[in-house]
Amino acid sequence: MKAIIVNGSPRKNGNCNILAEKFAGWLASENVEAEVIQIGSMNVNGCLGCWACSDTNKCIQQDEEFHTAAAKIYEADALMVFAPVYYDSIPGQLKSFMDRLFFHNRGGTGLKRKVVGACVVQRRVGAVSALDDIYHYIMCGEMIVATSSGENVVFGLNPGDVLSDEEGLSNLEKLAENMCWILNRIKKERDSK
Ligand SMILES: Cc1cc2nc3c(=O)[nH]c(=O)nc-3n(C[C@H](O)[C@H](O)[C@H](O)COP(=O)(O)O)c2cc1C
Repeated sequence: MKAIIVNGSPRKNGNCNILAEKFAGWLASENVEAEVIQIGSMNVNGCLGCWACSDTNKCIQQDEEFHTAAAKIYEADALMVFAPVYYDSIPGQLKSFMDRLFFHNRGGTGLKRKVVGACVVQRRVGAVSALDDIYHYIMCGEMIVATSSGENVVFGLNPGDVLSDEEGLSNLEKLAENMCWILNRIKKERDSK
């Protein structure tokens, strides 16, 4: 089973990246392969609202970085999204990516029944509305949501701060465990066929 972990932060080596790498390690310990993709620093165009993808299930824009990342996500079994809180929401780069990722496959099965989770990093406030922003996409993707026993919010301002938030890390590890639990049961069922 394979998961794609999206780092939605423009800061390549910031807190989201630290958490994304940790998350990949937890998945690997349960035999789930994981790849981190740095979306936040991609030069990704926003949706043009042309609706061409309604007929083709493919975005007409030719930016290769977007299509390469989207193809990896469509091929994977799970998607985990990390984002920093920007003004109580998510960074624009991630929004542009998600608008297109979810819209251009509306009629397709690219995201259907993939296991999905989300986590946001905040300095002080805005995490709940930022998480909610990510869930808006997930709820339109026919996805299976993995959760934890609390909100998946980790506190931190400067790179590395998140490592001091024990409760945040513990909640995130539970989400990883639950994601693996679902994925390994899907694998068992697939293997039995
Ligand atoms: C443009 C911008 C807006 C931000 N807005 C918020 C905010 O609304 N609430 C908050 O708690 N932190 C806010 N922050 C702080 C970041 O969420 C925090 O530094 C986070 O750790 C960054 O994650 P990263 O290191 O993965 O980029 C903002 C940071 C930037 C650069």
